[in-house]
Amino acid sequence: MTEPKPKKTRQPLYSAEDRDNLRWFWHNYLKSKSPWLLLVLLMILVQGVVYQQFLSMTESGLRVIFESGVVRDLVMVCIVVFFLFAVRGLMSYLVPLITVRISNQAIYDMRSDLIGHLMSLDLAYFERTKSGEIIQKIVTQTQMLGVFVGLATANAVRDAVTVIIVSGYLIWKNPLLFTTAVVVLPFIIWIMNYVSDRVKVTQRDAETALGDYMNGIEETVNGMRTVKIASQEPMEQNRLLKGTGSIRDLMNRVQITQALVMPSIDLSSAFVYVLVIGGGGYMVLSPSFDMDGAGIITFLLGMVMVFDPARLLAQFFGGLQSNLVLLDRVRSLYSETPTIDNAPNALSKFDTGGDIALRDVRFSYSAEQPLFDDLNLTFRGGQVSAIVGATGSGKTTILSLLSRLYDVNDGSITIGETPIDQLQVAKLRGSFSVVAQDIVIFNSSIWDNIRYVNPEASEEDIWRAAENAEIADLIRRRGDKPVGPKGAQLSGGQKQRIAIARAFLRDAPILLLDEATSALDQATEERIKSALERLTKGKTTIVVAHRLSSIADADRIFVLESGQLVEQGKHADLLDSSGLYAQLYKAQKRGYDGR
Ligand SMILES: Nc1ncnc2c1ncn2[C@@H]1O[C@H](COP(=O)(O)OP(=O)(O)OP(=O)(O)O)[C@@H](O)[C@H]1O
Ligand SMILES: [Mg+2]
Repeated sequence: MTEPKPKKTRQPLYSAEDRDNLRWFWHNYLKSKSPWLLLVLLMILVQGVVYQQFLSMTESGLRVIFESGVVRDLVMVCIVVFFLFAVRGLMSYLVPLITVRISNQAIYDMRSDLIGHLMSLDLAYFERTKSGEIIQKIVTQTQMLGVFVGLATANAVRDAVTVIIVSGYLIWKNPLLFTTAVVVLPFIIWIMNYVSDRVKVTQRDAETALGDYMNGIEETVNGMRTVKIASQEPMEQNRLLKGTGSIRDLMNRVQITQALVMPSIDLSSAFVYVLVIGGGGYMVLSPSFDMDGAGIITFLLGMVMVFDPARLLAQFFGGLQSNLVLLDRVRSLYSETPTIDNAPNALSKFDTGGDIALRDVRFSYSAEQPLFDDLNLTFRGGQVSAIVGATGSGKTTILSLLSRLYDVNDGSITIGETPIDQLQVAKLRGSFSVVAQDIVIFNSSIWDNIRYVNPEASEEDIWRAAENAEIADLIRRRGDKPVGPKGAQLSGGQKQRIAIARAFLRDAPILLLDEATSALDQATEERIKSALERLTKGKTTIVVAHRLSSIADADRIFVLESGQLVEQGKHADLLDSSGLYAQLYKAQKRGYDGR
């Protein structure tokens, strides 16, 4: 006995996932608008009925002509036909009027949900996701989806209603002729299935290519300084051109496949007309059928009226597959869930002046690269602690763990004996003033950039913070002028002083300074340091610095080496013990002395 060969499984056109996505979309973004949708449906039905009435009136009119009837009857027919189309015209105006509003509202709702969800996601998500992909979801894919569910669907429903009503009327008039006419239906369905299938696959690739492209543009534009210095403009141009090229090819493939629909419908309509003229003509000529000239002309007119909407409907189903892909893409953002969130009954109050302790902390950014394994250290409350160590040893990561930008894999971090994961995240983060190693500056004025960390601060407070950080003069000189994307119009030291001003303004009980003064000249650094000393008075302060002379008077110094705490103590003690710290210090001193 031989095993039955496994059948080649084709992805079903409307998979369970697609149906689930559609249901999700309906519940969240359309259901609440169902009274309006019902109204639209009603108006669409009126449009369909108008077509049917038009056919029936035309037949009466033709009969008046063929049977030499009274002119008055003909005039009546003309008036009614005109009135019918006026009604249809009115509906054609009202339907988009309502659907446009519904769809734009749906886009708005969808975007606000997406943005809300995006804000809740962990920092780690943004570090692994291309920004192009996020922009694409929130900008283009939602837009296309909205347009599709609005106008395209309303049109499709109108076309479907027209097809059903007019076909119904034709079947009622002449079932035999109608059946003869629709023998081509299976062929059209087959073509549609084929096209939809291909479109779905290609659309998916096209969306990925588009996301990569957007990301590429962002990277190139942001990295223009490096691009120019390295004279890599042609390379970047090529990279982007390659992106656009593959989008062009994929879009060609989608649209050329979609274009198969039209000729196949045209071809089948040719069949249908031939069958109707031939078969219907025979019926008129043969005495055994109850069919006259007016009847056959009306029937033919009816078929014409069915075919156009049928063709549009077929196109709609081609487009539907693309939009199912978009829907899936947009919804996939929700499969990302935040892990760093408020615990149930999270505390809002804790001893912000207490010791900060890391106990048996295990942490790695990725499974392949463990960083901390059983890290134990305590930063004393109200004192200045320093972390030193080679680049990549994990100094910045410790600071990130304290404010829960990442969660530890194992072990615990406590502030004043309260584990930080039992605190409200916003309250925890609110207790830190941070000068981060890579400073984020927004494209607004320096003033607004400082105020960002404390929007409620008074004008005096902001000036004081700016004076302390030695940036006030620059504010006076620049005024309200925005500082360029990512602060591109500022020097490194100016950006750093904005970050320091933010820390002054924030004035939170715990201060984290990661290479906070590394970009400043010595004179400025000295001035800022005396201001910083005033700020740190009585606060728990953790300083990360490469320049060891700047942390010599810290209450405690922690020395890290590839994620391990190798030494701790006061400057003088560490020097005496001639360990790693002493070596580092001597090396730096040699460097300064020029020996
Ligand atoms: N967001 C991240 N995702 C993955 N790995 C990271 C991330 N940030 C840092 N790392 C890795 O973790 C390790 C520690 O990085 P960290 O930034 O804590 O070092 P550091 O001691 O602050 O170094 P430096 O003195 O250069 O600032 C490095 O090997 C780095 O490659
Ligand atoms: Mg660092």
